[in-house]
Amino acid sequence: MSDVFDNVMDLAKRRGFVWPTTECYGSVAGFIDYGPLGTLVKRRIEDLWRQFYVISEGYYEIECPTIGQEAMYIASGHVKGFSDKMCQCPACGEYLRADHVAEAHNIPNAATLSCEMLAEKINSLPCPACEKILGKVDVFSFNLMFQTTIGPGSQRIGYLRPETAQGIFVDFTRLLRFYRDKLPFGTVQIGKSYRNEISPRQGMIRLREFTQAEAEIFVHPAMKGHPNFSRYSDYAFPLLSSEQQLGELEAKTYTMKDAVAQGVIANEYVAYYLAMTHEILVSVGVIPERLRFRQHLPDERAHYAEDCWDAEIYSERFGWVETVGIADRTDYDLRAHADKSGDSFTAYIQYDEPKREMRRVINANMGVLGPKYRGKAKDISDALQEVTPGPDGATVVIDGEEIFVPAELYEIKEQEVDVRGVDVRPHVIEPSYGIDRMIYAVLEHSYHEEEVEGEVRKVMRFPSRIAPVQVAIFPLMARDGLDVMAKEITRNLQMQGVLAEYDDSGAIGRRYRRQDEIGTPYAVTVDYDSLEDETITLRDRDSMQQVRVKKDQLADLIPALIRGKSSFSSLI
Ligand code: ATP
Ligand code: GLY
Repeated sequence: MSDVFDNVMDLAKRRGFVWPTTECYGSVAGFIDYGPLGTLVKRRIEDLWRQFYVISEGYYEIECPTIGQEAMYIASGHVKGFSDKMCQCPACGEYLRADHVAEAHNIPNAATLSCEMLAEKINSLPCPACEKILGKVDVFSFNLMFQTTIGPGSQRIGYLRPETAQGIFVDFTRLLRFYRDKLPFGTVQIGKSYRNEISPRQGMIRLREFTQAEAEIFVHPAMKGHPNFSRYSDYAFPLLSSEQQLGELEAKTYTMKDAVAQGVIANEYVAYYLAMTHEILVSVGVIPERLRFRQHLPDERAHYAEDCWDAEIYSERFGWVETVGIADRTDYDLRAHADKSGDSFTAYIQYDEPKREMRRVINANMGVLGPKYRGKAKDISDALQEVTPGPDGATVVIDGEEIFVPAELYEIKEQEVDVRGVDVRPHVIEPSYGIDRMIYAVLEHSYHEEEVEGEVRKVMRFPSRIAPVQVAIFPLMARDGLDVMAKEITRNLQMQGVLAEYDDSGAIGRRYRRQDEIGTPYAVTVDYDSLEDETITLRDRDSMQQVRVKKDQLADLIPALIRGKSSFSSLI
């Protein structure tokens, strides 16, 4: 029996949303092509995302290479630890995600178990491919990064990026300067990421090449409040906190204000982006009742993360699917790159007023230092402020040369000084969206079948901002000047930036059905009355209601309807 996944994927392939890649050579699991309509939906979802993050928040977008050098991924921890636990079915030879085999049989938190524990847990379970009992299998870690080499004949290792985030972290110093040395600031990136997934058998949900939209927000480590928190403080939706999960309880609805006050969400930043994520997902067409926010359990959370939530979307075939991860990553990433690269990855934050503080100062005896070290004496005196002296003296490095300065050449004092600022290593709040998973959710949640006049009407109820074709223009007949007027309307709408599709083939009912199936929210029909009175029929996809409006109104009306600035019901 086919389920909604089969129906949606059938429509998606047939109508040019998504199809398997390189079909003529046999497609490869984990890779897909977006067809013409799918590409339009993808761009519209990405642009809506940009509206929130780039335009409203002011977090400008950057674009980094998709291949990164090894040093970066050693520092980030991906070379050592970006792996999943894998095994091979002894009967059919299929490679399997061992934790997924376990989770499919209700073994909780399987991803947190060791290889040995997992092997023990799954030995009595059937292989999901051939259904034979797995028995004794080896479970081992498999690194998910695709490796390559950089340059011809080169031994220099590179990796296809497994997330867009690292490109932003390593650009921190330049970004800080771009944002005029002020915290907080954010930067986003939308682009391809690559993971050599072990067993990608879930359509668009588990891909080996996929698109992420990530925001990295750099905040002062001591800052808990979001400057615009009031925007979402009363915004409410269900949260499945780790406490609720441990008590096997249902998700509970909180306002963001209460969730932070009661310690359910770690801080206002995380709460703010949870709420924004809720708003974005609902705006692109996710049904709110099939959306939940689940907090990572303590043993599931990355060791560096202070708090971490997944926006999970319900799919009839796949259950709850993680689609967005929102984490407080502390200073882990910047610290890791500072340690490996030697750069500081800190921000100097100037105080509003200088602060009087007791500081240890080292006063060099310039009377002796000058003649002894000549041109280097001043640099040595400055460098002494930065080092911790030993009992006999201090070692400083000047122009790469180590110089030992005996203790009798300086005096250490506690002194009250004016401090103008402080170096801090920012913490990072990261909302990370999987665009392909969002698209699948939108396809599934928009898909409707209903009976109309004894026939099945398939309709994609996309929000009008997401619909690939925004309006269809039909002349009742492709003659008598109806076609001329319909083409002129099409052209005028296109000049307004509206994706308008002219269609004069087949019965009008068939034309409506074709557009319903790809989710076109509005259709304009030009008939013989149009030639007389310059009015046309405007039809609404969801209600199928029709209204006559002046042809000349369309250039303003259609963009307003698409952007939600006007509603169809107000025209009736
Ligand atoms: P999963 O547990 O499902 O593998 P993940 O926890 O590894 O996901 P993250 O590393 O948090 O996912 O990645 C951030 C987002 O990127 C995810 O929420 C998801 O939407 C998307 N994503 C991750 N892996 C894939 C994939 N293989 N195919 C499509 N999207 C993905
Ligand atoms: N940047 C978060 C992730 O992809 O894991």
